[in-house]
Amino acid sequence: MRKGPPQRRLPSQSTGCSLRIRTALITEPGAQANSLRSPLGSGRWQNRIMKIRKATDSDTAAIIAVDHAAAHDENRRRHIREWVSGDSTIVAEVDDAVVGYATLEYTFFSQGFISMLIVAEASRRKGVGTALVSQLEQVCKAEKMFTSTNQSNEPMQALMHRMSYEPSGVVHNLDDGDPELFYFKKLKGNR
Ligand SMILES: CC(C)(COP(=O)(O)OP(=O)(O)OC[C@H]1O[C@@H](n2cnc3c(N)ncnc32)[C@H](O)[C@@H]1OP(=O)(O)O)[C@@H](O)C(=O)NCCC(=O)NCCS
Repeated sequence: MRKGPPQRRLPSQSTGCSLRIRTALITEPGAQANSLRSPLGSGRWQNRIMKIRKATDSDTAAIIAVDHAAAHDENRRRHIREWVSGDSTIVAEVDDAVVGYATLEYTFFSQGFISMLIVAEASRRKGVGTALVSQLEQVCKAEKMFTSTNQSNEPMQALMHRMSYEPSGVVHNLDDGDPELFYFKKLKGNR
């Protein structure tokens, strides 16, 4: 997954998880919401609903706010505008605020490729990344889903492992001293 240099080496710490968010997948306006992830009860747990929906042009500013690299990278902002207008981007929304986004493309040997996945720092370890990837898996038109991340990106590798993605090779020399690890998952269903 290609990212701008400031974003590639992100700290692997968790922001701490005091709540789990119930997820509603809403792919079309008015569509029935499905519960994706059951909340884990604890004394501090709060029940909130997360929606996953297609990004629209009006989400661009919120996506840029979630994606810290975009603040000082015009190239990234241009990519975000293209992804959103290209129909390939979804957002996760909690309490009407965008807390994450993900982009699916088919430019990698015509297979599905998650080219961007970012969750706002304050919303990590609450199931948002899982919900975004799960939704892209559901809508992917290809048989296989791929993605990649830096060797230094332990949170993404942990997420991939948790979501049953298999290692699928390493590409050196994209970022100096930090190889790109590729992941793959065979998707089920009608494709
Ligand atoms: C990687 C990223 C998208 C994960 O999003 P998230 O919403 O925090 O992920 P989830 O809450 O769905 O995590 C699901 C599982 O992945 C694993 N995981 C996720 N983040 C982890 C972390 N920091 N440390 C260890 N395991 C982690 C855990 O198994 C977690 O389950 P658990 O919380 O029940 O233990 C998020 O950390 C992020 O946006 N990072 C910055 C951008 C980035 O690196 N994107 C990846 C592309 S290169």
